[in-house]
Amino acid sequence: PKPKPGKLRKTFRWAWRLTYLSAIGLVGFTAYNIYDDRHPDEQYEPDPNKKTLVILGTGWGSVALLKKLDTENYNVVVVSPRNYFLFTPLLPSCTTGTIEHRSIMEPVRAILRGKKAAAKFYEAEATSIDPDRKVVRIADNSEIKGATSETEIPYDMLVVGVGAENATFGIPGVREHSCFLKEIGDAQQIRKKIMDCVETAAFKGQTPEEIDRLMHMVVVGGGPTGVEFAGELQDFFEEDIKKLVPDISPRFKVTLIEALPNVLPMFSKTLIDYTENTLREEKIDIKTKTMVKRVTDKAVEAEVSRPDGTKERVEIPYGLLVWATGNAVRPIIKDLTTKIAAQKDSRRGLAVNEYLVVQGTRDIWAVGDCAVAGYAPTAQVASQEGTFLGKLFNNMAKTENHEARIQELSSKLNIESGNSAEAAQEIELLERQLKKIRDVKPFKYSHQGSLAYIGSEKAVADVSWWNGNLATGGSLTYLFWRSAYLSMCFSTRNRVLVIVDWLKSKAFGRDVSRE
Ligand code: FAD
Ligand code: NAI
Repeated sequence: PKPKPGKLRKTFRWAWRLTYLSAIGLVGFTAYNIYDDRHPDEQYEPDPNKKTLVILGTGWGSVALLKKLDTENYNVVVVSPRNYFLFTPLLPSCTTGTIEHRSIMEPVRAILRGKKAAAKFYEAEATSIDPDRKVVRIADNSEIKGATSETEIPYDMLVVGVGAENATFGIPGVREHSCFLKEIGDAQQIRKKIMDCVETAAFKGQTPEEIDRLMHMVVVGGGPTGVEFAGELQDFFEEDIKKLVPDISPRFKVTLIEALPNVLPMFSKTLIDYTENTLREEKIDIKTKTMVKRVTDKAVEAEVSRPDGTKERVEIPYGLLVWATGNAVRPIIKDLTTKIAAQKDSRRGLAVNEYLVVQGTRDIWAVGDCAVAGYAPTAQVASQEGTFLGKLFNNMAKTENHEARIQELSSKLNIESGNSAEAAQEIELLERQLKKIRDVKPFKYSHQGSLAYIGSEKAVADVSWWNGNLATGGSLTYLFWRSAYLSMCFSTRNRVLVIVDWLKSKAFGRDVSRE
């Protein structure tokens, strides 16, 4: 007789079957999603008598709103100079080619095509908002111009989700000589410049001082943008550049400059220490308590605070300079705050109430980095705010529909007496539903945690865990970081492309050709 399989072997068999079935399920689910995205249902044109809802921007806040919004309730018009949504958490990976930039972009027209009712999109910049006349002035600032490149859009309801621009604090030379890291174009420019510095340093007869300067990559700002970029850059060097340009590679150096006493101030002390130690192990030079005061085409001038309280001026030559010192308010927002009396003291953006209504207005809402709601300017906050507004607007539309129906039934009730019992019953039901719909709680942000990549396949995470907090860092956290961001990608298409890019750069190395 055949011997009975051992317990361990049985368990192993079941585990194998389960993995096999999960893999088939995952492939089937992905295939279904891809098919579904490519074959959306027929769209219908919304009723022109409905209210016009204008949404400015196609970033985290506005796109989360669009995702949740039942577009059949409004005439939706989206305006943004960018005809795509950008998944910013993976933008630092695009600077070195770990991920190709198109993998983290999602065309806004594809997003709108997935909605039940059609919505309009204009690739344009909103240049001013007139809250009295309820119009937005828009301009097409793209390269190709038509006969009309400026016009006005009237609105009944307006959502401002234009994000923020890069802060330079008026420091001379920053705009002229450094690269920012906020948009796809910035990442492409950095990728080009890294290789330009390396190839120029490798040029025949280059002087040793010039090689040192060109191979010196300086990052200003020790927030998560600066830290993640520095980590990605050092990985690029260790895994690719070092092998391809061995003769000058010992001269490659990454320096991270931060004005405060430590990097990543939003993380816990343990994780700050862990990050700084890891960056040092990676040979990244961290210069804290160092504030950049001036930038020239080849060097930054900074003021270093010494432990004895004295200050020293230093000059740091660079080949590539990346400026990541946080956010500043966009001109359109500054302009709007001057037009609303209640916003005259707003310096950091549009002050909003707990329903994200811009204070001093009744029909303008603001989300994300341009809104001041008491939260940090993060994608997490912006997307939760957008989702909240989507639900709020769906509720508002439902309320209006219910109220109109109740009015219609009530007037019938007064005129006829035939179906009065049925009508009264329906009114009662609608009123009960209305009570629930109207009971919208104010916006409350739920913090899921902070994550940051710090290089050499390590990440740090400060995440909410049950009722407490979990602070962790290392290679396992890196796997968590990857799976968290993968699950947050906008579409199945983005997810597949990002996985392919990760595999590609691991198998073949990053592409160092300069476009
Ligand atoms: P954005 O996403 O910046 O979108 C603004 C939109 O408005 C854009 O479509 C823009 O084109 C458009 N716009 C601009 N001007 C106008 C105008 N005049 N008229 C009309 N439209 C206009 N946050 C996290 O929580 N986790 C992370 O891991 C993370 N990583 C990041 C990495 C990087 C490199 C960067 C730069 C930021 C990161 N953030 C992260 C922060 C996060 O990206 C922002 O907080 C978030 O993008 C804010 O969303 P938003 O909708 O307010 O603005
Ligand atoms: P930040 O505002 O978080 O950090 C900027 C840093 O630059 C500060 O620490 C500041 O002290 C420093 N700085 C300012 N001026 C300086 C000067 N002249 N010289 C030297 N240092 C100077 O900006 P960041 O990193 O761009 O992030 C912006 C927002 O996006 C933040 O809210 C952040 O939380 C979020 N974000 C989150 C990420 C994540 O969760 N992984 C990744 C990237 C951004």
